Amino acid sequence: MPQAHARDARRGIGPWPASPTDQDGATELSQGEVLVLDIGGEVFATLRGSRADERLLLRHARSVEEARRALRRADALAALAVFRPTGGLGPAEFEPLLSLSQDTEWIALVDPVALASRDFRAFLLRAFHDYHTLPVDAERLAVILGHARGLASLRRSVMAQPDDLGREAGEEAAFGICGSSPAMRAFTQRLRKVIDSDAPVLIGGQTGTGKELVAHAIHRHSRRAAGPISVVNCGAIPATLIQSELFGHEKSAFTGATQRKIGRIEAANGGVLFLDEIGDLPLDMQASLLRVLQERTISRVGSTQTLPVDFRVIAATHVDLAQAVRLGTFREDLFFRLNVLQLTVPALRDRGDDVLALADRFLRRALAQNPGSRPRGFSARAIDALRAHDWPGNVRELINRVQGAVVMGENRLISPEDLGLAAVAPPRESLTLDDARASFERNLLASSLRANGNKVSQTARQLGVSRVTLYRLINKLNIPLDH
Ligand SMILES: Nc1ncnc2c1ncn2[C@@H]1O[C@H](COP(=O)(O)OP(=O)(O)OP(=O)(O)O)[C@@H](O)[C@H]1O
Ligand SMILES: [Mg+2]
Repeated sequence: MPQAHARDARRGIGPWPASPTDQDGATELSQGEVLVLDIGGEVFATLRGSRADERLLLRHARSVEEARRALRRADALAALAVFRPTGGLGPAEFEPLLSLSQDTEWIALVDPVALASRDFRAFLLRAFHDYHTLPVDAERLAVILGHARGLASLRRSVMAQPDDLGREAGEEAAFGICGSSPAMRAFTQRLRKVIDSDAPVLIGGQTGTGKELVAHAIHRHSRRAAGPISVVNCGAIPATLIQSELFGHEKSAFTGATQRKIGRIEAANGGVLFLDEIGDLPLDMQASLLRVLQERTISRVGSTQTLPVDFRVIAATHVDLAQAVRLGTFREDLFFRLNVLQLTVPALRDRGDDVLALADRFLRRALAQNPGSRPRGFSARAIDALRAHDWPGNVRELINRVQGAVVMGENRLISPEDLGLAAVAPPRESLTLDDARASFERNLLASSLRANGNKVSQTARQLGVSRVTLYRLINKLNIPLDH
């Protein structure tokens, strides 16, 4: 790097210095740097050498492309975008930048003329932390940018928390299943053992808890990871097709069978057969499946040849299979074959504050998908509501509510209303003012009476009330007169 550039880079001014490692001509941003997207360059020239420049490490991007490259390498905590009526930068060019760096707080520097447009004002509200009108007041701008950077850094430290929790909890994060509550720790401990084995697994748990996610995690981390995972959604295949879906068929096995088809069981060879919603499998298919599990061979429909298949079976269901056996809708022998190892994914309401870590994770995901959306976090009331809700739809419900709030939310902080959740009423004071007053009077009277040897006239005098009033209070407050 040439001397002049090196000095400029240290002082934090100047255009992107070229560096030998940088093919595109832009260097990496460090977290403290403030990106200045100023196509004309006049604003950057004014800021250069000002106090803003001393306090903030300003980096110049002369085009959207340069800004994009810089943000893709490292996200700045604060950034300034200069909008001039003829400057070549408008909402359409700018908005894609928002999705590159979720944490960056953007400040707009705008020509006052642009504020006449309602659309432009709405754009400022939607996408920016703050704005400033031209001409530049470098001193004020430095303060605004400094605040924005501080806020972004605060957010980053808080948002980093769920990941820290995940890491602390060890392998939970490795399985892609976020959570450090006692329920999830116990679950992942069982999961680890299940992964190490090759025996059949039955995954239970309410709807939307993540059974399918868990099945895929087992496959991904097991010794069969290099093999396929063949998924059968037992509830979704029409009864007429299920035989050929599972076992495949030979060409001309039936009308319409124009070519040979490999069934889902055969496709699991060397890997995992995942039978999702096994509780919905019709009884006659249960008998066929049982045979496969016992004999480990299949015959395609229309063929007499038996083929050996080697797979691990993972089944999932949200229905209580033991009860289905009692009701006669599920074969007991098949149940025992599948139910060798059991996993029950905990309901979300039993996972304590995992709901908050998950909500943060889904918020970040939703923000990445909706650049320019306004919400940046959850309000304290929303956090209370997330904790209090019963979550009948579990994780899936949480994802849907957070996505909805990101799309619909009008404010920087998501409210319980944005989530479609009832706000939690502040805990009602169990003590009313009357109760508190009575309790205070009772204590005062009782101790004064004791101190005066239960002499009513003396006590009344001391308390500054008449004897009649004191007797009335003693009766009303039920104070025993010890003799
Ligand atoms: N711990 C988690 N971390 C991230 N995403 C999760 C987690 N648990 C569940 N999900 C997501 O929640 C959604 C529901 O999960 P999944 O489909 O696995 O649930 P399920 O128990 O199979 O539900 P159903 O009984 O309705 O079939 C999916 O989008 C899944 O990716
Ligand atoms: Mg499922």
